Amino acid sequence: MKNSAIYIHVPFCKVKCIYCDFYSITNRENQIPLFTKLLLKEIRYYKDYKKNNWNFNTIFFGGGTPSILPAKDIEKILKELDNTFNISNVKEITLEANPGEASFKFLKDIKNIGVNRLSMGFQSFDDKLLKKLGRIHKPKDCFNTFDNARKAGFDNINTDMIFNIPKLSTKRWIEDLNKLISLEPEHISAYSLTVEPSTQLFNLVKNKKILMPKEEIDIEQFLITKQILFDNDYFQYEISNYSKKNKECNHNINYWKLNPYLSFGPSAHSYDTKKRWWNVKSLEKYLSLLDSCSLPVGGYEKLNDKDNYNETILNGLRLNEGIKISKLKKIHGKNFNNYINAITSKWDCIDVTREYIKLKKNGMLFVDDISSDMFI
Ligand SMILES: C[S@@+](CC[C@H](N)C(=O)[O-])C[C@H]1O[C@@H](n2cnc3c(N)ncnc32)[C@H](O)[C@@H]1O
Ligand code: SF4
Repeated sequence: MKNSAIYIHVPFCKVKCIYCDFYSITNRENQIPLFTKLLLKEIRYYKDYKKNNWNFNTIFFGGGTPSILPAKDIEKILKELDNTFNISNVKEITLEANPGEASFKFLKDIKNIGVNRLSMGFQSFDDKLLKKLGRIHKPKDCFNTFDNARKAGFDNINTDMIFNIPKLSTKRWIEDLNKLISLEPEHISAYSLTVEPSTQLFNLVKNKKILMPKEEIDIEQFLITKQILFDNDYFQYEISNYSKKNKECNHNINYWKLNPYLSFGPSAHSYDTKKRWWNVKSLEKYLSLLDSCSLPVGGYEKLNDKDNYNETILNGLRLNEGIKISKLKKIHGKNFNNYINAITSKWDCIDVTREYIKLKKNGMLFVDDISSDMFI
């Protein structure tokens, strides 16, 4: 049976960061008790859903800002998951915590109830840049919260950083990376800032109030990140993700390997390998549907072989281990060699071994173009 994942989306945030297009809302913390109550109800609705098909090995509390929830609510959610599903094989329970927004007591409490991995959104150690991004934390909050997390017993911590920020020099990015490495987190996600439609950043760029860095800077900072982290024993196992040995994020690996996942909370997406469905992207609608005893599902799509193939390409090429050739042969059959020859004669950064097809060293820079050439 394939591994599978559980995701809980917590939509509350203290402020909205200018670059963020995740579903998150501000000034609604008074609705947290109702949210938790109805989230538990939503979980119970899935009690009998394909009961024997799920082998859950990861749980992830993401957002929004899950560290806004009281530890008691996180405990209730974990208990409900335990009552509803078989989660005895779950080895990794991650919670996203914003720097400066998770007290030592909170961290200790969630560690005691089973959360064993933290993901902290540092983003930058440059106070001015943090402000420009709309973040409310200061660089010192990153160090304090990290220290508290260690004291609370967390030995598996991810930190998110962002490069390609306007006015972030490569020199400053290198300094920040080195500061981060001195903390010795087990995992580092380093994302290039992307301008997502429907964000404040999108409008600022469109109205020429903010100028995004040139592509060369983005590439330079990506390559320098790879090199510095490699030199410090961080293994790049996905385009933006680096970890110490055996400290990869198993939850994200579930997504990238197209393993099934069940998700709860507004805007959360679920996938059972044949179908994808998603909850309404509105806290109001989510609460009122559950209150009137309906599932808060906003839509679904059935996935055919072509969709699954293209998603295998899209996700698999980003992984260091690449894509299992047997998965591609299933679709191409006898034509597989012609298909692969056409791709490798165009792209010399592709490595085809007996079992896997993967990108060589700097092939990740062209991953989007290579993926679209490989789509059927
Ligand atoms: C679910 S989000 C936010 C989690 C948490 N609320 C926080 O802000 O730290 C997870 C991560 O995605 C990254 N991210 C979000 N939007 C991004 C964007 N437009 N470009 C690059 N990275 C982004 C940030 O590093 C962020 O920490
Ligand atoms: S980046 Fe994180 S803190 Fe900022 S709005 Fe998005 S979810 Fe909230």
